[in-house]
Amino acid sequence: MLNLSFGHQRWGAAIPEMFRDAFAASEGADEGEAIRGLVQDLISTTPKDDLLGYVAADGATVLGCIFFSRVTYENDPRQVFLMSPVAVKPDQQRTGIGQKLIGFGLENLRQKDVDYAVTYGDPAYYAKTGFQQITEAFARAPMPLSQPHGWLGQSLTDSDAPIVGPSRCVSAFDRPELW
Ligand SMILES: CC(C)(COP(=O)(O)OP(=O)(O)OC[C@H]1O[C@@H](n2cnc3c(N)ncnc32)[C@H](O)[C@@H]1OP(=O)(O)O)[C@@H](O)C(=O)NCCC(=O)NCCS
Repeated sequence: MLNLSFGHQRWGAAIPEMFRDAFAASEGADEGEAIRGLVQDLISTTPKDDLLGYVAADGATVLGCIFFSRVTYENDPRQVFLMSPVAVKPDQQRTGIGQKLIGFGLENLRQKDVDYAVTYGDPAYYAKTGFQQITEAFARAPMPLSQPHGWLGQSLTDSDAPIVGPSRCVSAFDRPELW
C-alpha cells in the first residue's frame, strides 16, 4: 500500500539510504554516495521553515521521497521553493510513485501559500507534472547552470509574472558542482 505522508523527520537514516540506492542503481556508486551526503546535509543544516519533505511508505519501508527547499529572491515578495532531489526505491520505479510524490508535494506547497516551484532536471519527465522550461530572464538560478535547458518552473497561483532579481538557495545546495 502506498501511504503518502508529510514530514521526513521520523525516518532517520532510511531516507538518505533510499536516495543512495536509487542514484547508485541509475548512475553508479559514487553518485549514490554523493546524493546520500547531500540529503543528509539538507536534513541536518536547513532551517525548519525552509525545507519540506514528503515520503511514500509501505509500513516501515520508504518507497520514495521528495524534498522542497526555499529559494530566496530578496527583491520579490513571492515564496519560491526548489524541488530537489526526488527518488523512488529501485524496485518500485515506473509504478507512478514519483509522479504521485511530485503532485502530492506541489499540492501541499500550494496549501502553504508557496507561489512558485522551480526544479533542475529532465524536461521530458517533469513536464508530466506541470513543469515548463524557463529562462534565467524569467527567474534567476542561485548558481550558474551547466545545463540551462534543465531549468524548469511552474506557478502555484494564478500569476505567471517573472520573478525579480538574484536568488539564493539553502546551504546544502550552495555548491557550484550541483548546478
Ligand atoms: C526519476 C524517478 C524519481 C521517477 O520516479 P518513478 O516512480 O520511477 O516514475 P513514475 O512511475 O512516476 O513515472 C514513470 C514515467 O515517467 C517517465 N520516466 C521515469 N523516469 C524517467 C527518467 N529518468 N527520464 C525520463 N522519463 C522518465 C517514463 O515515461 C515513465 O513512464 P512509462 O513507464 O510509461 O515509460 C525515479 O526513477 C528515480 O528515483 N530515479 C533515480 C533518481 C533520479 O534520477 N532522480 C531524479 C533527479 S533528482
